[in-house]
Amino acid sequence: MTGRYTVDDRLPADHYHRALREDVEAGLTATPRTLSPKWFYDARGSVLFDRITRLPEYYLTRAERMVLRAHAAEIAELTGARTLVELGSGSSDKTRLLLDALTAAGTLERYVPLDVSRAALGEAAESIARAYPALAVTGVLADFEQDLAIPSPAEAGPRLMAFLGSTVGNLDTEQRAAFLSRLRGALTGGDAVLLGVDLVKDPARMVRAYDDQQGVTADFDKNLLTVLNRELGADFEPGAFDHRAVWNPEEERMEMRLRARVPVSVALKAMDLTVDFARGEEIRTEISVKFRHERLADELSAAGFTLDHWWTDPQERFGVALALPTA
Ligand code: SAH
Ligand code: TRP
Repeated sequence: MTGRYTVDDRLPADHYHRALREDVEAGLTATPRTLSPKWFYDARGSVLFDRITRLPEYYLTRAERMVLRAHAAEIAELTGARTLVELGSGSSDKTRLLLDALTAAGTLERYVPLDVSRAALGEAAESIARAYPALAVTGVLADFEQDLAIPSPAEAGPRLMAFLGSTVGNLDTEQRAAFLSRLRGALTGGDAVLLGVDLVKDPARMVRAYDDQQGVTADFDKNLLTVLNRELGADFEPGAFDHRAVWNPEEERMEMRLRARVPVSVALKAMDLTVDFARGEEIRTEISVKFRHERLADELSAAGFTLDHWWTDPQERFGVALALPTA
């Protein structure tokens, strides 16, 4: 049987141009230079990310899958969700554990994967629709920092919002507070949020997860430069940069950086911008905040959520929180 699915393209028509330019202009002229991670995931970036999730060093996906496998039935029972919305759904692979449990519980009618990556979303929506023909699969192409696009409680509640893979840690403290408050504002009593977060641990382990032996993460990181070359007529030479993964102990986060091996001058033709890098100068391409239970509970509480349940894998590498709107 072939399942049916739809993809609702809610990105502004000039998203790839206006938003990308604004980001690049602000980021590349700032100190330190930064780029926003949402541009990583073009078709090639999504394939590379999928390979990252299977690397021996990248424990996050396996640890989160263990938690979901152990507790999906309990999550289904606690939430009674009629709709599962997933933010930054990517390949929707681990999600199958939730879909199975919510289907077995008999409450689930609809799955709404939301992602900014057209490539990842189309493929995931199609394969989930095929595997779950009884489910309405309605993908949403959107930027979750701009547009939460959640189906209304009347037609879809109770709604479970899943945000897995520690993607919430790719937002900085301020962005996270704003995002969680906006999410809270979109929910009502009866809805729930399932948040997957990587935990603070031995720095060497975390560094290896973001700087693997085979160099897949380095290719993923440098793919961001390829995206700028294609979309903004830039002339980055990806080979002129080294990928670095650095633990920042004050902020308790990993930082991914691209460091110029030699002096580099880059012209971004579509933007009338030239950026000069001294040898050794870096662009910070990603942060990945690592959490402790207390920090997460505090942040959720400040946004109007109560941390209701908390599960980790046996080695306590990764945590999954079930948060409810505070009554
Ligand atoms: N949830 C999956 C994928 C994580 S990778 C997992 O756990 O393995 C992060 C995903 O979030 C990518 O598919 C990326 O395209 C998406 N993403 C990143 N920033 C986004 C944003 N601002 N809005 C919507 N999706 C975003
Ligand atoms: N959400 C993932 C994480 O924080 C994203 C990610 C994994 C990533 N590996 C990366 C981002 C390497 C940039 C570079 O773990």
